[in-house]
Amino acid sequence: MRLTPSLLSADFTRLAEEVRTVEEAGAHGLHLDVMDGHYVPNLTFGPIVVAAVRRCTDLPLDAHLMIGNAPEHIRAYAEAGADAIAVHPEAVPHLHKTIADLRALAVRPGLAINPLSPLASLEEALAAVDYAIVMSVNPGWGGQRFIEGSMDRVRQVRKIAERTNPSLEIVIDGGINASRIAAARDAGADVVVAGSAVFGAADPAAAVREMLAA
Ligand code: DX5
Ligand code: ZN
Repeated sequence: MRLTPSLLSADFTRLAEEVRTVEEAGAHGLHLDVMDGHYVPNLTFGPIVVAAVRRCTDLPLDAHLMIGNAPEHIRAYAEAGADAIAVHPEAVPHLHKTIADLRALAVRPGLAINPLSPLASLEEALAAVDYAIVMSVNPGWGGQRFIEGSMDRVRQVRKIAERTNPSLEIVIDGGINASRIAAARDAGADVVVAGSAVFGAADPAAAVREMLAA
């Protein structure tokens, strides 16, 4: 199981230090939650922060775009240094084109699936991307409660992937802590995102090590 801490819960007055701490503790990448205050109520950061994080680590960066006009901005996040970009299909009118545009930018394309979004309607799109983020909270904030039933959704996405895209990487994102790692692995997730469980911990490095050992 790989762990990509979400920087949303990091101390932004010490961002480079926070990145170094989780990198040295063994994090496999960093999850960057981009929010525009329209697609989700919260407003976080844009390409300038992605570029700043890019300058302080070689870890893979995945940008989770919770923005209303993602197609217009994917180039900026790719040029800022994102290695992977996930979009919410509801916010992308021409999904086939946006996925092709992401690949043309040499970025791994991903889909972020909201709680209760019908999975059947995403079967073809899941076959066209490299990874899927199964949201286990409603997008917009860190520190929310895990939505029970989300592991079943991971299981369903894994079943779809076995038929249509066996190499699909499945990420679970939201409300994850060490106690949920085993269930996420059993359900078929490859990667967990954790924000508050890492950066909200008294010792983020120990929290990373605990999750990696779970
Ligand atoms: C929510 C974000 C998640 C969130 C994870 O909209 O996509 O990545 O920041 O944070 P925790 O682990 O605190 O739920
Ligand atoms: Zn996220």
